[in-house]
Amino acid sequence: MTNHQEQAKKIFLSYAEQYDTKNVLIFHKIEHTFRVAELSERFARALDMNAEDACCAWFFGLLHDIGRFEQARRFGTFVDSQSVDHAELGGDILFREGLIERFPGEGLPEDWLSMAEPVIRLHNKLNLPETLDGRTRRFAEILRDADKTDIFRVIAGIPFEERIGSSRANFTETGEASPEVMACVAEHRCVPGKLRRSHFEGRIAHCCMAFELAFEVSRRTVKEEGWLRMLLAETDTSGKQIWTDRETEQLRILRKEIEKAWGEPL
Ligand SMILES: [Fe+2]
Repeated sequence: MTNHQEQAKKIFLSYAEQYDTKNVLIFHKIEHTFRVAELSERFARALDMNAEDACCAWFFGLLHDIGRFEQARRFGTFVDSQSVDHAELGGDILFREGLIERFPGEGLPEDWLSMAEPVIRLHNKLNLPETLDGRTRRFAEILRDADKTDIFRVIAGIPFEERIGSSRANFTETGEASPEVMACVAEHRCVPGKLRRSHFEGRIAHCCMAFELAFEVSRRTVKEEGWLRMLLAETDTSGKQIWTDRETEQLRILRKEIEKAWGEPL
């Protein structure tokens, strides 16, 4: 890590530490942030970007979820549909309230500031707008891939209450995926938030993010980390089937479709 990055990390932490870092939601979000920053830099380098651009990708990763802290404080949940769009909230805190001015931008390319706002505000949107210029799009795609890559770890490795915060009652415990969700699987695209009603549909929806990884390096990283395979598992460690027969069949279809889209086995 360069001195500039150390400096930016310190500024980020001094902001985050205004919040309750003992709260598991906040704790996991800080961990996620550093992972996304690191993955973004790694992807940028793999895509042959220069050192300044790779540092810029890292920096966008560092800032991408800054709205999560205020979201947790105000609403106690990370479910955007039950609270606020956290990317827009982060965008407002950085660019309207001026938090971005605390970051000197040293070691970053000249155009970092003009790209920062769209890249951060768009990181959680279903699609990127056609109008986005090529360079900003590249940074947005890197961040979105890095975010998705780490989300597989978060979903597979952290209990629901610790990563979401809201009560499970908002989702039904069981329930096979609806035809609308399975249509997303068949069409190899992400599932809109409003279609997720059960925990199983949530699982399918998270795995569908694999369809929209933009880069080969992201797919390779996801494969190496193994979290996606865990999310698609049919049995637990004791060999007991996790889902109903119908749900297991839907998971199997999803796995096949991801392998078809990637052109290789998971
Ligand atoms: Fe986010």
